[in-house]
Amino acid sequence: MTWNPKPFKDRGVLITGAGRGIGQAAAEKFAAAGASLFLCDVDAESLAETQALLGEATEVGVIARDLTQLDAPQAIVQAALSQFERIDVVVNNAGYIWNGAMHRHSEAQWQAMLDIHATVPFRLLQAFANWMIPTARAELEASGAATPRKVVNISSVSGTQGSATQVAYATGKAAVVGLTKTLAKEWGRYNVQVNAVAFGHIETRLTQAFETSPPSIEHAGQAYKVGLSNQQIEHLRRTVPLGRPGHVDEAAGAILLMALPEANYITGEVLTCSGGA
Ligand SMILES: NC(=O)c1ccc[n+]([C@@H]2O[C@H](COP(=O)([O-])OP(=O)(O)OC[C@H]3O[C@@H](n4cnc5c(N)ncnc54)[C@H](O)[C@@H]3O)[C@@H](O)[C@H]2O)c1
Repeated sequence: MTWNPKPFKDRGVLITGAGRGIGQAAAEKFAAAGASLFLCDVDAESLAETQALLGEATEVGVIARDLTQLDAPQAIVQAALSQFERIDVVVNNAGYIWNGAMHRHSEAQWQAMLDIHATVPFRLLQAFANWMIPTARAELEASGAATPRKVVNISSVSGTQGSATQVAYATGKAAVVGLTKTLAKEWGRYNVQVNAVAFGHIETRLTQAFETSPPSIEHAGQAYKVGLSNQQIEHLRRTVPLGRPGHVDEAAGAILLMALPEANYITGEVLTCSGGA
C-alpha cells in the first residue's frame, strides 16, 4: 500500500476557531495535506493572519463570525458550500475558558460555556446534516456507497476526567462526547465517521504560564482569565508521562489522524492527546 502525501486534495475542510492556537495549526496541517479550507473565527484579524500563513497555494475561504449567534453556523456551512460545493471534514474547534469555583459560577458563565462548547457544534452539525444527508442518500442510490466524510469534535481531558474550577467548561466538553457518540450511531449509514479529540495540556494562549496573577484574553468585548501558574505547570510536567506540554502542531496531528482515510473504520471514539496523562 502506498502513502498518499496529499490525502485531502480536492477535499473541503471546515475548521472553526482557526484564527490562532490549535485551529490555526490544524489549518496549516490540512493545507499541507492538500485540502481546500473554509475557516471561521470571531476574530477577523487573527483569521487574516492564518490566511496569510497558508499562502496562495491553498484555496481558502474565511468568515469572521461569532459562532454563538443563532444564524452563524448555518451561514458558515452555506458559505463553505457556495465556495467548494462540498464539505468532507468538519472540525469543531472554537472555544475558550471561563473558569471559577463551582459555588462562584454565574448563570451567564454556565450558559456561555455550554453555548460555545455544546450548542455551537450541535448547530453546526445540524446545518452540515441538511446538506450531507441528501447528498449521501443520492450517492448511495447512484453507486451503492456514500463518500466517507469526517467530523472531528474537540473535547478536553477536563470533559473526560473533570477539572477543578472548570465545572461549566468541563460539562460542555463532556457534552461533546455525547454528541460525538450519538452522531456516530446516527450517521454510520451515511458513511460519516464522527470522532472527538480530547486534549490535555497544549501550549496556546489559554494555557500560557504566569508567575503570580493570571493574564486575561479578550473575547467578544469581555476579559477572561487564562493561563496556568508555574506551579501548575511544574505539577503537569511531573504527572505527564512525556514530561512536557503538547505543541499545537502535535494537537493538529491528532485532529488530522481522525480525518485521514486510514481512519475510515474508526467512529464514535474519543482520542486522548495528552502526552499520556
Ligand atoms: N490549549 C489546551 O490546552 C486545550 C486543552 C483542551 C481542549 N482545548 C480546546 O481546544 C480548542 C482550541 O483551543 P486553543 O487552546 O487553540 O485556544 P485559542 O484561544 O488559542 O484559540 C481558540 C480560537 O477560537 C476562537 N473562538 C472562541 N469563541 C468563538 C466564537 N464564539 N466564535 C468563533 N470563534 C471563536 C477564538 O477567537 C480563538 O481564535 C478549544 O475548544 C479548547 O477548549 C484546548
